[in-house]
Amino acid sequence: LAKIEVKLSDIPEGKSVTFKWRGKPLFIRHRTAEEIATEKAVPVETLRDPQHDDQRTQAPEWLVVIGVCTHLGCVPVANSGDFGGYYCPCHGSHYDASGRIRKGPAPLNLEVPPHQFMDENLLIVG
Ligand code: FES
Repeated sequence: LAKIEVKLSDIPEGKSVTFKWRGKPLFIRHRTAEEIATEKAVPVETLRDPQHDDQRTQAPEWLVVIGVCTHLGCVPVANSGDFGGYYCPCHGSHYDASGRIRKGPAPLNLEVPPHQFMDENLLIVG
């Protein structure tokens, strides 16, 4: 399917849930207030792939990223690693709760796919 609908009320705060979209894992993370504050405060110039959190999210509570490591394509593990986001066990890439690469060999941030919030409870990805 080219597009998927996600019911946001199924994803509790603090959790990252994995869906499948166009044959790839898709991570949807319901971020806590603390995670949002942490990611917004990161100085962009310190990042390998410099993107402000605002450029990666449409609604701060929700991070929507493709769950494919930008190094060699393994699937990172949620709520793991040194930056509280995702950790790729294949060669040790650490991503933050904005899906940005912070440490390890991956060159780029996790990809943000096209997505749209239809209302408070409905997200369409694709
Ligand atoms: Fe993720 Fe190499 S594939 S660190």
